[in-house]
Amino acid sequence: MEPSGVIIVGITGGIAAYKAAEVVRALDRAGREVHVMMTPAATEFVSPLTFAALVRRPVLTQMFPNPELATGEALYPHLQPAERADAFLVCPATADAIARLAVGMANDVVTAAALSLPAGCHRFFAPAMNDRMWANPIVRENTQRLESWGWVRIGPASGALACGAMGEGRMADPEQIAEIVLRTGHRLVGQRWLVLSGPTREPIDAVRFVSNASSGRMGQAVALAAAVEGAKVVFITGPVEPERWPVHPAVEVHLVQTAREMLEVAATMVGSADVVVFAAAVADMAPASPAAVKLPKHRLGRVLRWAPTPDIAASLPRREGQTRIGFALESDDGRTSAARKLQSKHLDAIVLNRPESMGASEAEFEFLEAGKSSTWESWGRLSKDACARRLVEWVIARRSRASESSFEKG
Ligand code: CTP
Repeated sequence: MEPSGVIIVGITGGIAAYKAAEVVRALDRAGREVHVMMTPAATEFVSPLTFAALVRRPVLTQMFPNPELATGEALYPHLQPAERADAFLVCPATADAIARLAVGMANDVVTAAALSLPAGCHRFFAPAMNDRMWANPIVRENTQRLESWGWVRIGPASGALACGAMGEGRMADPEQIAEIVLRTGHRLVGQRWLVLSGPTREPIDAVRFVSNASSGRMGQAVALAAAVEGAKVVFITGPVEPERWPVHPAVEVHLVQTAREMLEVAATMVGSADVVVFAAAVADMAPASPAAVKLPKHRLGRVLRWAPTPDIAASLPRREGQTRIGFALESDDGRTSAARKLQSKHLDAIVLNRPESMGASEAEFEFLEAGKSSTWESWGRLSKDACARRLVEWVIARRSRASESSFEKG
């Protein structure tokens, strides 16, 4: 997004609306032209005057302006300023707002404006609601539908909820929301990313398999972080919950089962990739000869012979100028073996994390760049989304350094 970009913040009616004031202030302080719209329900929680004072311009709350007073653009609150928006953020997004946005309803100024955004506008929503509402399959379905139209979801986070419950549903941290909106842009336009994600599943027989606890969160986060910066992403995943697929128009999802299948599909894609991220937890061994039928248990012990799976990172050919990032999952003495993997798999960087990271939404991360011998960076405890954004930032910085040095040579 250009520094002068127009950002619209749509506030919908939840208690987290008071935290939206901090988001709006951060966006305004970053020098952006911020416009605020509120649904009638949102005005029950916070006065429009709060936001008007923060952005120093009128706040739109009415679909139907006063015909005796309104002139010009003010007669079309659902079109202006929406038609010139670079980013549109619904914050907080209640279950009701998500449902209405997902089906294209336009019965308040926020949802109506959402329909008149220009094609290139980045759309974000920050869900906030009670944990049982957030877990409700209808809400999940509406959320996925909105994401499938290119809306980027920010949060929700877990923790204490306004109603006294503990759980997932709290609006993401205002600073984090503002940062995502401000950073989103076009810095990866023209780049192709290949992201391998999730576990692989190696069959023993017709019903049994060997796999691991990978949820696919890390790969999903990387794919979305690259896509919102304009990259085209090919995403190859082993079996994970559909909610772990990165739903974005710039992401093409390929589903595979085994390590061999993942390698085969990746091999057809790797030649055109500028960046490859190996976030998959590939099974290291697979039953040598899986049975096509279900084996009786007394035969399992005798039949099970193991064969190594292909090392995907080590065997995919590397294109000149390609950037490759791997992950190392280590129980102890992690740095030494992760550094070894960085070398043996010809990676440009490796992220080290621990087994507790598997399936979790946040973890401790450490980072090592090739050529920096053992200068590890401790990234501390981060959400996987935050870790993914950091990797994207690293790629952007590295590629801009590379293009500067080739420019100087040329
Ligand atoms: N990897 C891969 N193919 C494999 C195994 C791992 O591409 N068959 C990739 C992973 O996606 C990750 C990196 O290699 O980016 C390191 O994975 P990890 O499981 O930590 O290492 P392994 O090579 O499997 O070594 P070990 O299990 O002995 O620690």
